[in-house]
Amino acid sequence: MKYGDLIQFEPIESVVQLRDADEAAAARQLVETYVISAEMAERLVHLVIPQLQFDQPMDNKGLLVVGNYGTGKSHLMSVISSLAENSELAAYLNDKSVASAASKISGRFKVVRTEIGSTTMSLRDILVAELEEHLAAMGVSYSFPPADKVSNNKRSFEEMMSAFHHKYPDHGLLLVVDELLDYLRTRKDQDLILDLNFLREIGEVCKDLKLRFIAGLQEAIFDSPRFSFVADSIRRVKDRFEQILIARKDVKFVVAERLLKKTADQQVKIREYLTPFAKFYGHMNERMDEFVRLFPVHPDYIDTFERVTAVEKREVLKTLSRAMKRLIGQSVPDDRPGVIAYDGYWTTLREDPSFRAVPDIRAVIDCSSVLEARIQQAFTRPAYKPMATQLIHALSVHRLTTGDIHAPLGATPEELRDGLCLFQPGIEDLGGDPADDLLSQVETVLREIHKTVSGQFISSNPDNRQYYLDLKKTDDFHALIERRAESLDSSQLDRYYYEALRRVMECTVCFRQSSVIEESGLFLSGWNGEDAAHGGAAYVEAAGDLGFAKARAVQLADFVGMHGCGCGPAQALAVQPGMSESSPHAFPEDFAFEASEHCQQASHCTTGRRGQVQRLGQRHEADAEMFQFLQRREQIGDRSSPSIQPPHHDNIDFSPPCR
Ligand SMILES: Nc1ncnc2c1ncn2[C@@H]1O[C@H](COP(=O)(O)OP(=O)(O)OP(=O)(O)O)[C@@H](O)[C@H]1O
Ligand SMILES: [Mg+2]
Repeated sequence: MKYGDLIQFEPIESVVQLRDADEAAAARQLVETYVISAEMAERLVHLVIPQLQFDQPMDNKGLLVVGNYGTGKSHLMSVISSLAENSELAAYLNDKSVASAASKISGRFKVVRTEIGSTTMSLRDILVAELEEHLAAMGVSYSFPPADKVSNNKRSFEEMMSAFHHKYPDHGLLLVVDELLDYLRTRKDQDLILDLNFLREIGEVCKDLKLRFIAGLQEAIFDSPRFSFVADSIRRVKDRFEQILIARKDVKFVVAERLLKKTADQQVKIREYLTPFAKFYGHMNERMDEFVRLFPVHPDYIDTFERVTAVEKREVLKTLSRAMKRLIGQSVPDDRPGVIAYDGYWTTLREDPSFRAVPDIRAVIDCSSVLEARIQQAFTRPAYKPMATQLIHALSVHRLTTGDIHAPLGATPEELRDGLCLFQPGIEDLGGDPADDLLSQVETVLREIHKTVSGQFISSNPDNRQYYLDLKKTDDFHALIERRAESLDSSQLDRYYYEALRRVMECTVCFRQSSVIEESGLFLSGWNGEDAAHGGAAYVEAAGDLGFAKARAVQLADFVGMHGCGCGPAQALAVQPGMSESSPHAFPEDFAFEASEHCQQASHCTTGRRGQVQRLGQRHEADAEMFQFLQRREQIGDRSSPSIQPPHHDNIDFSPPCR
């Protein structure tokens, strides 16, 4: 079964140009294709139409259509203005209640539509010129006086409307302006105040004249901090305007009813497909209707997308349309719920070079890319890599929803499980509660990511259990160690290797005597002579608070790149240091070793000097990173013995571990 079999996909790739509605055929098509959610119908019937009509006296105001990029502002304004202009178009509306309420305005207006482009003209000059030009085309001759010759514009509007009524006694005049915010943004402080005053005056004259005004804005100008310096002017404008907000629900409705429309039969198939997966998620069953209507888009995609405030120009409909286009010919997977979740938005964001110009987005892209690269290279559980990648992408998107990209806020494992419809084939066989089993899986993968990168790049907040990308922890220890290791020749590596070996052997002797030598900061546990005697594997792990400054991490790499044997035939050594920035010169005084027993891994040990390094004592997150480094250096353990030279150089002070 292909996605295309379940959806009547209608791509939305272009935006509407308001002036298209000047053409009768285009206007009809715009009215026909406009889908109206219950909430939008309510707003049209109870707010827009009453404000536009002029049969019943009321405190008429201007209207502002407010919505994010590409959410349908121009389309809505085209529909309203077309209905107002042409009495026949109400019949083509998709909503009966709106069609019936529209009779109050249908065909009752002459319409002037304008889109403000890039210009340095004042708002007054732009709109006055548009009005004069359109009125002339309608056979009405009126010229506004120059701005410096009038104390206010009300008188001019009154004169204009009386000239208009002379020709059209029963009509109102509707002025529709698009792209107003983009224009206002370009205005300097003083100019902006004049523009806003002019806007207020238009809002005021709507009360007494049959002049109506609608403008489209990308964001609620009244709440925008960008315009806070003109807060007074804005407040006065606000009093004279009503806002029509295009909300998330409207967008979801457009997705369900236009972009991804389904027949009743297709909806039944989708429900059948999704139902077996519902038990793995917190609320899928309760929200099944929404899942079906939006399928394959996860309902939370749109909610999260709305909150990505760091990305100003985000176009949800277009983004979903493109994602869907890629999917439409593909088969619907049957081993997992094949939904598009918000992690998918990360690829779009990352690949659009214009977003890199925004410092916050660039910082998140940089952090996320290193994290993802590390996981691709070094993730220890390949089976979970797809989930790990999905989690990283989701947390990257999340990072841009919290306002401050450094805030310790993110998503809990439950939210990630449900919000992304994460899935791991085979999870159903675990036998426990399916949602709990999947949750444990998600938690494991999150921990594994954390471990793989030594706690860098990603953090969790113990208070709220949220995981988030941590842009303050972006030291790539792995890369640091690798860079340093590259510059060491094999004799240096060997020197340190044997020195480490020597020290560990001394410790082992101490341990055999059952003495834990605390004064030297060494701890041995779990190893006993018996194991060595019959070839069991004893792992000696070194960990601890080496007190390394970051720069010295690389020296540590020299040291930890050594492991060996000598204590017994199957002795495997592992040395795992930790680092701390707190006491850069403490190494090696506070250096702890631990030996632990791993008899089940004897085969490893008998094959050579293979070491296993394990994290010890949670002393520092860098431990795991060292572990990986050591693992990669395992081949050293199989070399023939080089001549041993004490490491006099490189500033590492090997003080005797045992006394
Ligand atoms: N309610 C709706 N019914 C049908 N199509 C819609 C609806 N809302 C939006 N669309 C479609 O979505 C696309 C974007 O709409 P539109 O151009 O009106 O957005 P906009 O908010 O004006 O965008 P911009 O901010 O870029 O000017 C168009 O193709 C439009 O037809
Ligand atoms: Mg538009």
